[in-house]
Amino acid sequence: MPVLSLHKKETVVERRSTGIVGFDELVGGGLPNHSAIVLKGPSGCGKSLFCKQFIWEGLKNGETGLYVALDHPPNEIRESMTSFGWDTAPYEEEGLFMIMDCFNGTLGIQTQEKHYVKNPLDINEQMYVLQECVNLATKKFGRDIKARVVYDSAPLANMRDLPTLFRIARRLLSLAKAYNAIGLSPVHRGAQNRLLENALLGVVDGIIEFDKQIEGGRLNYYLWVDKMMMTAHSRNVHPYVIMDDGIHVMKIRSRKQ
Ligand SMILES: Nc1ncnc2c1ncn2[C@@H]1O[C@H](COP(=O)(O)OP(=O)(O)OP(=O)(O)O)[C@@H](O)[C@H]1O
Ligand SMILES: [Mg+2]
Repeated sequence: MPVLSLHKKETVVERRSTGIVGFDELVGGGLPNHSAIVLKGPSGCGKSLFCKQFIWEGLKNGETGLYVALDHPPNEIRESMTSFGWDTAPYEEEGLFMIMDCFNGTLGIQTQEKHYVKNPLDINEQMYVLQECVNLATKKFGRDIKARVVYDSAPLANMRDLPTLFRIARRLLSLAKAYNAIGLSPVHRGAQNRLLENALLGVVDGIIEFDKQIEGGRLNYYLWVDKMMMTAHSRNVHPYVIMDDGIHVMKIRSRKQ
């Protein structure tokens, strides 16, 4: 069910639930439609998991999902989702969920995947196959179908130069604006130089930051919303935990208590 919320300046924006327990309330009820959002943080903090949980929430609600897999092979993404109880097989059969294999090509491994990029470092080929997947979905389900797109992750493709990075960011933005879509892209903190990182973060609609800290002999996780278009978002740093049903963002106790 879409949630309509009023921005401070009376702008009505459709929001979609992320499916992440405790997160939607940080962004006024959900992520805004037509937005391209970067998830920035260190390795192993749950950025990809956030994306998978987000895709699963969409599939459960009759939306389509496209996962552009640069960091891991498609089977690992399927297995990881299944281990959380998110069985994507029926959705893949129906064409509601697609994984675009941009991984095996980098190792020169032959892929059995339906949607794949032979040379993932060739951005032209990547963008061509991405559009083919979008065309397939819109042909089958109509242009207005709600979509969630994950590009996981940016560094492999964009470490080289600013124009390439902009091309990828603009492609995600144009998908989000031209279709009924929300795009997420994890970015490893520190994988780009500052110029590239700032350029990317400046053009996207939202930034969610992740961090991890060793405290009292334990690894603790935190996230915060750095920017989000048309949203009076939380300015707090929120602890979160990874459970066997995904990410749970914890409530912060009021200082008065
Ligand atoms: N299938 C799974 N079963 C149990 N725990 C998992 C599973 N997948 C991820 N996790 C937990 O979530 C943590 C974060 O994993 P995730 O792959 O989402 O991190 P990431 O931020 O995307 O890392 P990277 O930047 O290296 O891609 C892992 O360290 C692990 O503890
Ligand atoms: Mg990842």
